[in-house]
Amino acid sequence: MALSPSEPTEPPLHVAIIMDGNGRWAKRRGLPRTLGHRAGVEALKRTVAAAPELGIRSLTVFGFSTENWRRPAAEVAELMALPKRYFESDLARLERDGVRVRAVGRREGLSPELRAMLIQAEARTAHNDAFQLQIAFNYGGQADIVDAARKLAQDVAEGRARPEDISEATFTRYLSTADFPPPDLVIRPSGEQRLSNFLLWESAYSELVFQNVLWPDYDREHLAAALAEFAKRERRFGGAVSDDVLAAG
Ligand code: FPP
Repeated sequence: MALSPSEPTEPPLHVAIIMDGNGRWAKRRGLPRTLGHRAGVEALKRTVAAAPELGIRSLTVFGFSTENWRRPAAEVAELMALPKRYFESDLARLERDGVRVRAVGRREGLSPELRAMLIQAEARTAHNDAFQLQIAFNYGGQADIVDAARKLAQDVAEGRARPEDISEATFTRYLSTADFPPPDLVIRPSGEQRLSNFLLWESAYSELVFQNVLWPDYDREHLAAALAEFAKRERRFGGAVSDDVLAAG
């Protein structure tokens, strides 16, 4: 039997978003790409405000990928300045609203000032547990798996781990995302339909929702629509199709 819209459904507890389309948003308005990224920060603020109201407990957003270094230097500089822009305006509110902030990804390559800011945001919100915000910055799914493999190899070489004990669960603990559950739902706005090296290991059983809206225009209604789409999915984690789904065709 298919779910009718009136039936209560569990919201996805952990949602991950690839915040894509800032450049196109700016281009359509004849603006520099930097202004698209700044508008993207405003969309992030709206989303962080809406998510807990819609029942989401954790949100992971893709702020800067290990591949984004290939962009022109001026754009990289603008992207590097976005966390400062966000925390200067919002960190006090995040702290007050019970949001715990964590940054994942490689810290190498980031300026000392930016590293200090990420550490400060994590420290100031470490006692919070109403909502978790994970910012993937200088993050790449493959890079994170490589870094985890390197740490694990080091532990084996130094006798802290044994090859025969390595399992999916133990490997997961070496990822920079280890403190978070895997995402239930990965959303990509902007019309592109790929993961672009985001949470490759963690999204093994995530539902994927692609939306035709550019990230700077993203608002509560778009998030609610993605959750409504998620509610229609039957998650099987490799198990068999249920009779309900077969009956619904
Ligand atoms: C991709 O759009 C977006 C990014 C590379 C940056 C996303 C970052 C934010 C929205 C803000 C981040 C804020 C914090 C606090 C980390 P694109 O430029 O590739 O868009 P396009 O595909 O239209 O060119």
